Amino acid sequence: MSVTAATSPAVGSFHLCRRSPGPATIPRFRMTVRSTAVYLTPLVTKLHKDCATPLPVLRHVADAMAADMRAGLAAEGGSDLKMILSYVDSLPTGSEKGLFYALDLGGTNFRVLRVQLGGKEERVIATEFDQVSIPKDLMFGTSEELFDFIASGLAKFAQKEGNKFHLPVGTKREIGFTFSFPVKQTSVDSGILIKWTKGFSVSGTAGRDVVACLMEAMERLGLDMRVSALVNDTVGTLAGARYWDDAVMVAVILGTGTNACYVERVDAIPKLQDHVSSSGTTIISTEWGAFSNGLPLTEFDRDMDAASINPGEQIFEKTIAGMYLGEIVRRVLLKMAEEDALFGESIPEKLATPFALGTPDLCAMQQDTSNDLQDVGSILYKAAGVESNLSARKIVVEVCDTIVKRGGRLAGAGIVGILQKMEEDSKGLIFGKKTVVAMDGGLYENYPQYRRYLREAVTELLGDDIAKNVVIEHSKDGSGIGAALLAAANSKYRDYDL
Ligand code: BGC
Repeated sequence: MSVTAATSPAVGSFHLCRRSPGPATIPRFRMTVRSTAVYLTPLVTKLHKDCATPLPVLRHVADAMAADMRAGLAAEGGSDLKMILSYVDSLPTGSEKGLFYALDLGGTNFRVLRVQLGGKEERVIATEFDQVSIPKDLMFGTSEELFDFIASGLAKFAQKEGNKFHLPVGTKREIGFTFSFPVKQTSVDSGILIKWTKGFSVSGTAGRDVVACLMEAMERLGLDMRVSALVNDTVGTLAGARYWDDAVMVAVILGTGTNACYVERVDAIPKLQDHVSSSGTTIISTEWGAFSNGLPLTEFDRDMDAASINPGEQIFEKTIAGMYLGEIVRRVLLKMAEEDALFGESIPEKLATPFALGTPDLCAMQQDTSNDLQDVGSILYKAAGVESNLSARKIVVEVCDTIVKRGGRLAGAGIVGILQKMEEDSKGLIFGKKTVVAMDGGLYENYPQYRRYLREAVTELLGDDIAKNVVIEHSKDGSGIGAALLAAANSKYRDYDL
């Protein structure tokens, strides 16, 4: 359902109509799109206007992203984008061998994985993983509690290692630790947490080496393993995807939070001093969630930001990532309930509760193709406690679509910004041949409309010919294997005959 394509009266036309049996009491504009009619209240119209992402807005975002990347590479603190050096200078080649573990602390889940790598011929011989959701109280607890939880998950998993996995005598199990928060890397296997994002507010970790925090927790449990690589989830995804395809140059996570990393030339990083890379390239984690230049924001974004635990920070993330889309929609619906009586006279407590509506709820509602939007009705009832009639449900779907469309299109513009910067520095090497952007994260994986809006924005910005060379590919759970591969590349026992 789209209400923006009001070009032909046969497809869409506006009528001023008085509210028929609907809950609201104000005059509405009705737009007919084929057989579905959506009531455009002044609030919906304003939302459309404030969230609009026409080509000039996308272009501005892409250009500003490229400019902010350059500023962040020029000097430490030179831009909103931290442009973090990963110390990963060479990506997997396929010849990695042996048993490696990966630990992944992301946003919603914590995952452990082991993989037996068999080199160029056998590749991934065996893999096993375990996943648990992170208990809410740990997100607000102490550093020790969080790392003890991680270490004990790892210990339990390690005990169940079956006979498909082989550790050479005299070696320790090695881990690639994916830690998906802004970390100032100090080497490939150490790094200081700059700040928490994605709603985490654990005391005592910011300013500390997260590998040391993990090692201390492992020691408390008597678990004798070695962390040989510390990586951001984007870097893990890039490594995991590159293992199968040499054309992968960029990786993007669109899940609870968001970030992107890419392959950069060492000589294009002025702030880098004394870093020697045998490949001449290195991976930069942009931390683009902190981008904020020229975004089309609404009062709902501003209010949500002001109420967050990190006001003024992670504005791009708060506009495009999974943790926030549901909450923005909830805020819009609450205002519509208050001002237009969208759901009748009373306002259920649930609708007024922050984060009551999740992005998966938006996604499920947008997949409802029934005439009476029954699923939309039951999701609204379950998540937000509201009773809705058909016209209210249509407005809800419209609001979801508006927020998701803005998110997907802005994410697409961000990707173009990165590619544009890379192309400017190495003419023809990005747009002149197949370049793969590896994508992962629940939002990208599970939300078809979001994916489509993202792709559309990329094509609008690049034009059909260049866009054909840019392959945006889902790399499922690549970051786990990627971290294990980077652990292999940085193994203390690299020269052992495995
Ligand atoms: C973090 C990034 C991470 C991204 C995706 C953001 O909130 O700052 O480090 O890569 O989420 O998980």
